[in-house]
Amino acid sequence: MDSGIDMRSTQAEIEADMTPAIETSALNLWYGSFQALFDVNLKIKQGRVTSLIGPSGCGKSTFLRSVNRINERLGYVRITGSIDVFGNNIYAPEVELVQVRKQVGMVFQRPNPLPTSIRENILFGHKLHNRDKKYTRDDEDEIVEESLRQVLLWDKVKNHLKRKATELSLEEQQKLCIARLLPVKPSVLLMDEPCSALDPKGTAAVEELIWDLRGKYSILIVTHNMAQARRASEECIFMLMGKVIEHTDTAEMFVTPRHRETADYIEGRYG
Ligand SMILES: Nc1ncnc2c1ncn2[C@@H]1O[C@H](COP(=O)(O)OP(=O)(O)OP(=O)(O)O)[C@@H](O)[C@H]1O
Ligand SMILES: [Mg+2]
Repeated sequence: MDSGIDMRSTQAEIEADMTPAIETSALNLWYGSFQALFDVNLKIKQGRVTSLIGPSGCGKSTFLRSVNRINERLGYVRITGSIDVFGNNIYAPEVELVQVRKQVGMVFQRPNPLPTSIRENILFGHKLHNRDKKYTRDDEDEIVEESLRQVLLWDKVKNHLKRKATELSLEEQQKLCIARLLPVKPSVLLMDEPCSALDPKGTAAVEELIWDLRGKYSILIVTHNMAQARRASEECIFMLMGKVIEHTDTAEMFVTPRHRETADYIEGRYG
């Protein structure tokens, strides 16, 4: 009987209707005459953690960097095709870089906090994006506390906010580097092997944090660590020589990969 109610019930159907966090269409990228990305067509879901895996040199960092336009600093990079973030083409001529950086935050392999205090690290991005705003002490305190709470660092550092960020442990520095992105309310977080400089305990803590942030942010994480991709992501993309070979549910990819190349990589036969 037709109740008149929208009966689409499965998560997959609902998600199919949602604007992807990142959508690329026929994306090609060249460094000079060297082509690093070939016809990349991806729809990366909102609010999910998606991991990007593949052998060294396959283009993972290149792809990530093109989603917040870091590549364009290099004069010899050329891109064709499009990248939409929440439906907006970030390479459209009228789109300014600062808008893109506000919407898309990036975390690197080695934590790279500013050589200032923990507090200043958190406030820096917010102030950069709100140059005309007059901040009261309360405004600042709120931003600092809220961001540090989100990365589970508040209780640890609340009495040491004037301490230099570079004196924190690597794990804490990486959490701080994630925390400092949050005040500008990005919708997408890109992470390029964010745990590779951390020990196993730090890795576990940052993975747990990434897991905790899903839903609030759409996260794309590059990793060499298969166990990490399995544990910390819901969807997984496998790339090989600049091409996307497979993009599917993480559990499915690791149990029943659709392509031989994916199976070979997961089983450690190359890269
Ligand atoms: N700045 C650059 N200038 C020229 N070529 C580059 C540049 N950066 C990367 N490449 C080349 O593009 C290809 C993809 O590199 P990329 O760094 O994206 O790979 P990756 O998958 O991130 O590798 P890894 O796992 O080692 O970090 C490689 O052949 C690399 O040599
Ligand atoms: Mg890389």
